[in-house]
Amino acid sequence: MQRAGLLAMIVTLFFSATVSLAEGPQTMTVWKTPWCGCCGNWVRHMEEAGFEVDVREIEDLDVVKRQAGIPEKLQSCHTATVDGYIIEGHVPAPDVKRLLQERPKVGGLAVPGMPSGSPGMENGQFDAYEVLTFSRNGETAVFNRY
Ligand code: CU
Ligand code: CU
Repeated sequence: MQRAGLLAMIVTLFFSATVSLAEGPQTMTVWKTPWCGCCGNWVRHMEEAGFEVDVREIEDLDVVKRQAGIPEKLQSCHTATVDGYIIEGHVPAPDVKRLLQERPKVGGLAVPGMPSGSPGMENGQFDAYEVLTFSRNGETAVFNRY
């Protein structure tokens, strides 16, 4: 795909946030690389939680992350958009649902890195981790702790 076309598509996705009050599954778009296994596991986690997931595979996620304004220190393996918010990394589905219910004025949620034991990262170990809200100006705050 051409870079300009891709950018236009991303911009459209990020800024065409529709407030859906309709019942039924909420659609989420997930941007991942073709070779990421834990991303696929996280997608399954979200689907099991009732989200309808539209997976977009691209090789260079930097474009997506830059466009989404995700601070470098918060970056993880995949980036998702849902209802005007950005979800970065292995964020648990209940936190995404709470975000969509409370609708705080933030860019979205992030679980930086790939902590063991987070959804999609089940490997028998468990790292304590935080779910953070973030804004385009780089502000973060703790949304939940595991
Ligand atoms: Cu991952
Ligand atoms: Cu991932």
